[in-house]
Amino acid sequence: MAKILSLFIMVTSILAFAPILCLSSKTNYYGYLYPQFYDWSCPNAKEIVKSVVAKAVAREARMAASLLRLHFHDCFVKGCDASLLLDSSGTIISEKLSNTNRNSARGFEVIDEIKSALEMECPQTVSCADILALAARDSTVLAGGPSWEVPLGRRDSRDASISGSNNNIPAPNNTFNTILTKFNLKGLDLVDLVALSGSHTIGNARCTSFKQRLYNQSGNNLPDYTLDQSYAAQLSTMCPKFGGDQNLFFLDYVTPTKFDNNYYKNLLASRGLLNSDQILVTKNQATLELVKLYAENNEIFFEHFAKSMVKMGNISPLTGYKGEIRKNCRYMN
Ligand code: HEM
Ligand SMILES: *[C@@H]1O[C@H](CO)[C@@H](O)[C@H](O)[C@H]1NC(C)=O
Ligand SMILES: *[C@@H]1O[C@H](CO)[C@@H](O)[C@H](O)[C@H]1NC(C)=O
Repeated sequence: MAKILSLFIMVTSILAFAPILCLSSKTNYYGYLYPQFYDWSCPNAKEIVKSVVAKAVAREARMAASLLRLHFHDCFVKGCDASLLLDSSGTIISEKLSNTNRNSARGFEVIDEIKSALEMECPQTVSCADILALAARDSTVLAGGPSWEVPLGRRDSRDASISGSNNNIPAPNNTFNTILTKFNLKGLDLVDLVALSGSHTIGNARCTSFKQRLYNQSGNNLPDYTLDQSYAAQLSTMCPKFGGDQNLFFLDYVTPTKFDNNYYKNLLASRGLLNSDQILVTKNQATLELVKLYAENNEIFFEHFAKSMVKMGNISPLTGYKGEIRKNCRYMN
């Protein structure tokens, strides 16, 4: 009897400790994300991501903006699952070919470089989706913005959605209500919308993304008069009515590579570049109040931005046995 009892105790205690053993393995059994996820399995992961991002941003300041945007474009399509990173192959049609991403989304080589470094250090351990989340944070910090702890433990998708990319990610000429609805569908609210739009304090946009405002805002061959007209005249020299579509412009022409609240000051001066930027002050009283708050108080902007980034990074991640840890971010295993 005593023998059976001790055997029983042995078996149950092994079972009881099983979850702790799993902590050190590569699968996220918890179903939620937490910053310490790689502390046992790949303790240098965060440092490795940071050092590759730092090198890339030192080579080209704009890369901080490009990497930040990749996380957004990943999370708004089937959640933060690195679906954006898959190249076309087999049944996969790459999201890189969508209207929003084609000739626009960039920084994929830097993600590859990070992934290779991580595969050398700890093979098949750190997901591409987590790389995007960490790179977005590191880029923000490098550009002078706020820092935050990045919850980790996302897994990578085994599919992509070009229709999701075309339809879920807001377009610059969407109406205010369409954009807010697209955020709400991802569990993000009006504060998240205004705070995260502050990303446009760094980086570039192409002429094609705002041309409509200069020449034909409402289909009647008139400009958008909510855009400061001397700024519009300046823009039009490199963004003519016909041609020049791929020419690049700063989203924040005052401090284009510095992550600060100048974006909001520009909006209040009717100098937001995209229609989706300017409507935050022209179409809704609550967003206007937030823009004023952030324009006056950089600290509150940074605080809200960090909080909203964590929220965005939590959009339906794959955990547990769902998905996989890709060896190469461009292809399924
Ligand atoms: C609110 C709805 C949004 C719209 C309509 C929008 C639209 C755009 C457009 C049209 C561009 C320029 C693309 C081009 O011409 O190639 C752009 C650039 C950018 N967006 Fe957004 N965006 C939105 C929200 C966000 C959010 C939430 C983030 C990040 C959290 C973000 C980060 C960026 C960055 C950093 C750039 C510059 C990228 C670079 O220079 O490579 N945007 N966005
Ligand atoms: C928005 O821009 C797209 C792409 O340039 C264009 O096809 C579409 O007609 C525009 N929509 C509106 C409402 O102007
Ligand atoms: C202006 O927009 C309207 C409606 O989208 C379109 O029919 C018209 O051709 C545009 N005008 C020019 C000059 O592109």
